[in-house]
Amino acid sequence: MDKTEYEAMLRSAFASEFSFFLKAAGFHWNVEGSLFPQYHELFGNIYAEVYGSIDQFAEELRALRVYAPAAFETFDDISQVECQLEVPNGMQMTQELLADSDTMSEIFRATYVAADSMGDYGLANFLADRQNAHKKHSWMLRSTLK
Ligand SMILES: [Fe+2]
Repeated sequence: MDKTEYEAMLRSAFASEFSFFLKAAGFHWNVEGSLFPQYHELFGNIYAEVYGSIDQFAEELRALRVYAPAAFETFDDISQVECQLEVPNGMQMTQELLADSDTMSEIFRATYVAADSMGDYGLANFLADRQNAHKKHSWMLRSTLK
C-alpha cells in the first residue's frame, strides 16, 4: 500500500466515524414511540462514546501530517456511512445503526492492518480500540433487536 492510498483510507475512516456519530446523535434526538426512553438512551450512549473519540482521531491524523476532513461536502464524498435524511422508527434506526457499526468495525480492522504494516503503532492501538468500541455498540444494538 502506498502512502497516498494509506492516507485516503485513514481520511475515509475518519469521515465515516464522524458520519456515524452524526447519525447516532440524530437518532437520539428524533426517535419517537412508546420505547422512546430506551432508544433515546441507547442512541445517546453510542453517539457520546463515538463523539468522545473524534478529537483524538483527528489529532492522530495530524501527527502523521494527514489533514482531518472537516467539511460536510468531504464527508459526503468519502464517508462509507450513508446519511439518513428521513426519520425511521426506533426498530429501523437500531437495524441501520447496527449495520453501520459493523461497517465501522470492519473499517477499523482494515485500517489497523494498514497502520501496523506502515509501522504506525500508536495509531494502530487507537484503531484497535475503536474496533473494540464498535463491537460493543453492535452488541448493544443487536441485543435490542432480539
Ligand atoms: Fe441528549
